[in-house]
Amino acid sequence: MVRVLVVGSIHMDLVVVLDRFPEIGETVIGRDFKMTPGGKGANQAVAAARLGAETYMVGRLGRDFFGRVLRENLKRNGVRDDFVVEDPESYTGVALIFVDVEGRNMIAVAPGTDARVGPSDVDSALDTLGSVDAVLLQLEIPLETVTYAAKRAKEAGALVVLNPAPFRPLPEDVYRHVDVLTPNEVEARQLAGRFGEYATLRECCEVLLEKGLSAVVVTLGPKGAHVFSRDFEGLVPAFKVPVVDTTGAGDAFSAALAVALSEGMSIEKAVVFANAVAAIKTTRLGAQEGLPYREEVNKFLLERGVKVG
Ligand code: RIB
Repeated sequence: MVRVLVVGSIHMDLVVVLDRFPEIGETVIGRDFKMTPGGKGANQAVAAARLGAETYMVGRLGRDFFGRVLRENLKRNGVRDDFVVEDPESYTGVALIFVDVEGRNMIAVAPGTDARVGPSDVDSALDTLGSVDAVLLQLEIPLETVTYAAKRAKEAGALVVLNPAPFRPLPEDVYRHVDVLTPNEVEARQLAGRFGEYATLRECCEVLLEKGLSAVVVTLGPKGAHVFSRDFEGLVPAFKVPVVDTTGAGDAFSAALAVALSEGMSIEKAVVFANAVAAIKTTRLGAQEGLPYREEVNKFLLERGVKVG
């Protein structure tokens, strides 16, 4: 069993399903509402645990109702919460999410205790655990902590996977400590500094690879994911499924990719596997509730005649 550490955000998602997004100043009556666990970090942790990895989470929760519910949720999903700190100095992070009939979303986050996840939290985990196979990072906690976690994880010999979402310019030294970057196309262009100017995706990813990464895997929604790496370059097509909610699909993808690579799959097969996990997630409402278990992913791939193991 591979051992995964996720350092990141934990939120309660308040989701309104509506026919169309409101304009500024407009009120739109929704179709449905769901209060459901989320946060890019916690989504990745639950995804990894459901795929069979021994999963630890580093993060912070407020001393409040959402904090208690979210800690229980992590435990119920098999995520070890030993390094999830209860922090009375702020509130548990919340995301307000609109999902339209095509499954697209708009998200506003109030980070609360996410903004207080620090290098000492990373130290507690890595000093205790010693070795981990993979460390998963995203950008909803302070950049200083992300950079520190990447550096410590690399020194400990872990595979470091960074999902650079939501976009923020990254310090140059982060790239030296990250193995695999999983941006979407807009994030890849922004990180390469080529947003709004003509450049192919390959040119953008070459800029990023030169900074020290082993691979850039660009998620392209319904088209799939394009891999740029030394071993393999090419588009790995998405699986066609009826889409209900794309929230958390990127988190599911990154977690599945990290688990699959840690298990020894080639990057091409790992991306096929990650595409399957993300596709299943999009068929269900809720960032975490929709995440599949390993058996479901195996069945999904088998039904389509795809072999990855
Ligand atoms: O990636 C989806 C996540 O982004 C949601 O669960 C929400 O909490 C925001 O952090």
